[in-house]
Amino acid sequence: MPRAEETLTKKAYDTVADVYADRFTATEPEQPVELAMIDHFAGLLHEPRRVLDAGCGAGRMLPYLAAQGCRPEGVDLSPEMVRRAQSDHPDYPCTVRSLTDLDYPDATFDGVFSWYSTIHNPDDDLDSMFAEMVRVLRPGGHLLVAFQVGDGMRRVGQGFAALGYDIVMNRYHRATPDMVARLEAHGLEVTAQLERSPVPSESDPQAVVIARRPQNG
Ligand SMILES: C[S@@+](CC[C@H](N)C(=O)[O-])C[C@H]1O[C@@H](n2cnc3c(N)ncnc32)[C@H](O)[C@@H]1O
Repeated sequence: MPRAEETLTKKAYDTVADVYADRFTATEPEQPVELAMIDHFAGLLHEPRRVLDAGCGAGRMLPYLAAQGCRPEGVDLSPEMVRRAQSDHPDYPCTVRSLTDLDYPDATFDGVFSWYSTIHNPDDDLDSMFAEMVRVLRPGGHLLVAFQVGDGMRRVGQGFAALGYDIVMNRYHRATPDMVARLEAHGLEVTAQLERSPVPSESDPQAVVIARRPQNG
């Protein structure tokens, strides 16, 4: 049974999938320091560097991960975002699934990449999302999580509303130390953290955390 917030999020991304995919085709919004964190993450992974792009959206980060030597594949809640990922990036497998209930065997991936994909779920969902991400990560593998810094929930998507799309999209902001503590509670060892101030096109600070599943964990 879908979680209430996921029903809203899925509907919103299904509605705006084409405008989102046409607007962000690659790494236009990322700052060099964030790309450096992704490069660092890719460099930590063991061969074959199979990576789950967890919440891949329309797949814009898949070619970037591949260019860093990863073998990425995607999963996303929104069938319309996955449709665009499959059509725009046919070299990479992408499927529809919630991060709270992944359809992969244990220890499938060398890396799990969550690029702004936990931001629409409330705190109550985070533990089931991270439990699944850790389950599909092999011991010694690495998880990367990117998110907006802050606290509380914001109603977002006004840009889409201005274009005439009738959507409800909520975004949950988190403090970096809280995110670190939550990952540690799942048995992960945090190995890198970035928090940066917003650039002019943004309203909030941004964070990236990388954590490792211990070999015996
Ligand atoms: C801000 S977009 C980021 C998409 C992509 N990572 C990118 O950077 O372009 C958030 C994505 O997470 C997906 N998402 C949100 N909650 C999810 C969940 N519980 N399970 C799977 N995907 C989810 C949404 O459908 C959406 O495609």
